[in-house]
Amino acid sequence: MTTQGFSTDTLLVHAGRDPERHHGIVNPPVYHCSTVLFSSVDQLLETRRDRASGAFEGFTYGREGTPTTRALEDAITALEGGFRAVTTSCGLGAISASLMAFLQAGDHLLIVDSVYGPARHFCEEVLAKFGVIVEFFDPLVAGGIAALFRDTTRVVYMESPCSLTFEVMDVPAIVQACRARGIVTVMDNTWGSPLCFKPLSHGVNVSIHAATKYISGHSDLMLGLAVCDEPHFIPVKKMASMAGYCGGPDDIYMALRGLRTLRLRMTRHAESALLVARWLQNRPEVHRVMYPALPDDPGHALWQRDFTGASGLFGATLNACSDKQFAAMLDTMALFKLGYSWGGFESLVVPTYPSTLRSALAYEAPGPSIRLHVGLEDPDDLIRDLESGFARLHAAAS
Ligand SMILES: Cc1ncc(COP(=O)(O)O)c(C=O)c1O
Repeated sequence: MTTQGFSTDTLLVHAGRDPERHHGIVNPPVYHCSTVLFSSVDQLLETRRDRASGAFEGFTYGREGTPTTRALEDAITALEGGFRAVTTSCGLGAISASLMAFLQAGDHLLIVDSVYGPARHFCEEVLAKFGVIVEFFDPLVAGGIAALFRDTTRVVYMESPCSLTFEVMDVPAIVQACRARGIVTVMDNTWGSPLCFKPLSHGVNVSIHAATKYISGHSDLMLGLAVCDEPHFIPVKKMASMAGYCGGPDDIYMALRGLRTLRLRMTRHAESALLVARWLQNRPEVHRVMYPALPDDPGHALWQRDFTGASGLFGATLNACSDKQFAAMLDTMALFKLGYSWGGFESLVVPTYPSTLRSALAYEAPGPSIRLHVGLEDPDDLIRDLESGFARLHAAAS
């Protein structure tokens, strides 16, 4: 459908759907596909030309996508305002494909210090092995990033708010500096989802989503999306295709289904997260809560300027306690279950170790750190769960 002129909430419901082409059926069909048959050599050659030109309009082979894939890509593109999107098997795939698309041996990559840990490891252990010079920068660098540019700087990679410590980056200032030098900008926008921040409208070239999180929303699939502006679509699509990244048909369909209710879920996640975060701020066991939606968070002003909402994910550092006390708190939570990932309907907690994932900045805290994902449960129950956790922490003191 034509997406122009509709608000984000209307696009969430309609983008990527075309019932008229599917017998009036509301949702697009799930194409299970490896082989695509051609009616003639001529048609086969036409798809080869399509691929070689970088148009990637037709369907040639399951790995390169199907109409179900295009439906999800069209929807996310309508929401973020890019040119086209590329689907990958997981969020990390969208990150690695986007970086490999623009970097080669000898190039300099600037990547934010508080980036998602596995993205950091990919740069340090894979890109560096292939001759890319990887440098980590302070998330609060803003326009000062220009002082870090080298003649060989090819990509600046951002994530905002950052992983584990939730600093808000001045994305427009960084993009402005990069544009002046023709440097490609890539940003992980998973926290904000396509609803709370629009990287491409701030001039970012490639916006990454781990669709595994809020877009799918049900903790039951892995998927990545890279939304690209026009000049940067072909390199990312080609890299994803050459590296063999593609999503499974049912996962793509479920991500598309999750997208339809994203606004309702995000609103509830954010409202409950703010209640839980405020409650935690007043607890004597808590040293600091890291959540940009809190008015006294250091990133609040920038978040208010650039974001239109928040998600339900935030960090906290506790005051000093023993490992035994920390484990007593987290081991038997009734609702905040221990587990990686986030963005699903359920609440989660993980212990975090930011100091092991920082090199440009020191991370200091008097006690252990946690990351909480506030799910769709009743926030009063969630607060009671944390309260019981703190009671166990104290009981384990002796
Ligand atoms: C901020 C962020 N980006 C990307 C990813 C990677 O996504 P996936 O697990 O789908 O590879 C994650 C996963 O936790 C994440 O937290």
